[in-house]
Amino acid sequence: GTTLKAAAAEKGRYFGAAVATGKLSTSAYTTILNREFNSVVAENEMKWASNEPSQGQFNHSGGDRLVSHAQANGMSVRGHTLLWHAQQPGWAQGMSGTALRNAAINHVTQVATHYRGKIYAWDVVNEAFADGGSGGRRDSNLQRTGNDWIEAAFRAARAADPGAKLCYNDYNTDGINAKSTGIYNMVRDFKSRGVPIDCVGFQSHLGTSLAGDYQANLQRFADLGVDVQITELDVMTGGNQANIYGAVTRACLAVSRCTGITTWGVRDCDSWRGSDNALLFDCNGNKKAAYAAVLDAL
Ligand code: XIL
Repeated sequence: GTTLKAAAAEKGRYFGAAVATGKLSTSAYTTILNREFNSVVAENEMKWASNEPSQGQFNHSGGDRLVSHAQANGMSVRGHTLLWHAQQPGWAQGMSGTALRNAAINHVTQVATHYRGKIYAWDVVNEAFADGGSGGRRDSNLQRTGNDWIEAAFRAARAADPGAKLCYNDYNTDGINAKSTGIYNMVRDFKSRGVPIDCVGFQSHLGTSLAGDYQANLQRFADLGVDVQITELDVMTGGNQANIYGAVTRACLAVSRCTGITTWGVRDCDSWRGSDNALLFDCNGNKKAAYAAVLDAL
């Protein structure tokens, strides 16, 4: 294939990008998006602070716009994200206990119901594990409602949209380490108890090196019986950027249950990582060496 999406499709994978819906009216942006990518995820518009700004008052305008663009252009949609400790609306930040738990599960139900049938995979829960060596949960208002908040969210999401794959998504999980092992143990537990989980997302916000056991880590999750996806890929610029992009792509292709790769933006200037110039297209929309490395690996 001569585009990312065509080459990925030949291997049975998708190739996606995070989209800021406000840029869909910029032709230089949308030209690249439509030519190269066949999956999209909202960079911010489907987060709790965006779509439930007041309790019980939902605003799906940004997400709906992205879904419409995807449907008109043959793209699948990843949903990001139903519950997360960050980018919560102020009203939820101020809640705790049963009231917060109920509000959170209602959020999951209402949002997953709104998009029912339109989402390939939902990041049901994002970034719930702690960094460092503990392997345990991150402290958050959601965690303080009880350790079962994650499984409650997955059950509510399944009930609301039985056709969507339900993912757990996190970062600093790019090799076999205490954090990824904590998540691995949760997924194994969920599978053994019948908690509905279908996939694990590896954000893969990367620096100047890649864990040597990146592929092995993806594989150990796949061996639990879940799909895996690279969900927010971006790589710090430098001598290794193209090599790392190529290696991540090859790792996904080597794991049969790795169903797709998403970069967290389109052009360097669209990226949340700013001067890291972390994406596949430069600010003028030109293909970078990293683009060639991905296409070559696919
Ligand atoms: C980032 C967005 O790219 C920014 O625009 C926003 O200001 C903050 O969030 N992990 C995630 C994403 O799961 O939702 C984050 O997106 C990047 C880190």
